[in-house]
Amino acid sequence: MNILVTGGAGYIGSHTCVSLLETGHTVVVADNLCNSRADTLDRVKQITGKDVIFSRIDVTDEAAVNSLFADYSFDGVIHFAGHKAVGESVAKPLKYYRNNIISTIVLAEACQRYGVKRFVFSSSATVYGDNEVPFVESMPLLPATNPYGETKAVCERILIDAAKANPDWSVALLRYFNPVGAHESGLIGDAPDGIPNNLMPYITQVAKGKLDKLRIFGDDYPTVDGTGVRDYIHVMDLAEGHVAALDKLTSGVHVYNLGTGQGTSVLQLVKAFEDANGMKLSCAIVARRPGDIAECYANASKAKRELGWVAKRDLLEMCRDAWRFEKNFMGSCLHS
Ligand code: NAD
Ligand code: WQD
Repeated sequence: MNILVTGGAGYIGSHTCVSLLETGHTVVVADNLCNSRADTLDRVKQITGKDVIFSRIDVTDEAAVNSLFADYSFDGVIHFAGHKAVGESVAKPLKYYRNNIISTIVLAEACQRYGVKRFVFSSSATVYGDNEVPFVESMPLLPATNPYGETKAVCERILIDAAKANPDWSVALLRYFNPVGAHESGLIGDAPDGIPNNLMPYITQVAKGKLDKLRIFGDDYPTVDGTGVRDYIHVMDLAEGHVAALDKLTSGVHVYNLGTGQGTSVLQLVKAFEDANGMKLSCAIVARRPGDIAECYANASKAKRELGWVAKRDLLEMCRDAWRFEKNFMGSCLHS
């Protein structure tokens, strides 16, 4: 299939381009590079030996999106493009609502206009809110605690309604848990700009000596060891989940958790990182981070049952691959 990948120069998008190309799909990336660099796509080409067409456009720009759809005959869209920093979304809610929601509407309208019937959307486990674990797709969603999460819930709603009005559409709403790690080549990975918000890139930067110590946000949660529990998933497993969704989708809207089903605490992840890479990390327990929940992990059985997809890579692989990428590329990766 010929797939439009919005946000394809970003972290999850670039890994998904690798999976798509390796399974015989062709890829057109639309990205405005607001949080990525074009040379990531050169590395995607290096890994796969295949070409990627790149269009530097803002996918909220209706004219630019329409002209892309007119130029290429797409069989499907995977929509990764969006802003994703939870804290920034509280400070700049309009930036988040504008970018994340308008891009989704513009792309869905273009699909309608140009007869493109497959749409895969990057949603997030954040839409479950502080629900009971494990999170299962059929659960009623709880209100998001921040504008970022709200944009994901709103986009899901928009796509559900659009699919109702277009019964021949196949829409996948993929709720990611905590993507970590990098392609095993070490050529592409997570390259956050500035001080990372997320745990794994923070850990790799402490390991490299760029940050002095890991601050662990709270050790008094009702969890196995008091620290927050998450469902970390290797980004290549996540990428493969997108290919499975594209290949297996039937008409209608289908919601899938993309997680491992396994909860891991902050202290357990630190230990796994230390064991995987033979090093010791400097850590300090500090106060809880506002807005954090105690536990978040998936019931991942629906994706297994319906898509034949399961996450295959373990925590040690996630830690090894995250560190390999940090050693090779970080610091020279984004906005240099
Ligand atoms: P990322 O920032 O690395 O990638 C997003 C890409 O979209 C970037 O390359 C950016 O330049 C591009 N982009 C943003 N707005 C754009 C616009 N208007 N037009 C064109 N390009 C635009 O983020 P990521 O981690 O790869 O996340 C991809 C998607 O997955 C996002 O929608 C994010 O909300 C969602 N998601 C991410 C996580 C996570 O932890 N990384 C978890 C759940 C969901
Ligand atoms: C994981 C655990 C922290 C940093 C966020 C978004 C979510 C999704 C993924 C997009 C928590 C602890 C973290 C640190 C720490 N993104 N931690 N010290 O919060 O589960 O999810 O990213 O959709 O929407 O909210 O991920 O990696 O920030 O935190 O102790 O320096 O690590 O408290 O328990 P989170 P995270």
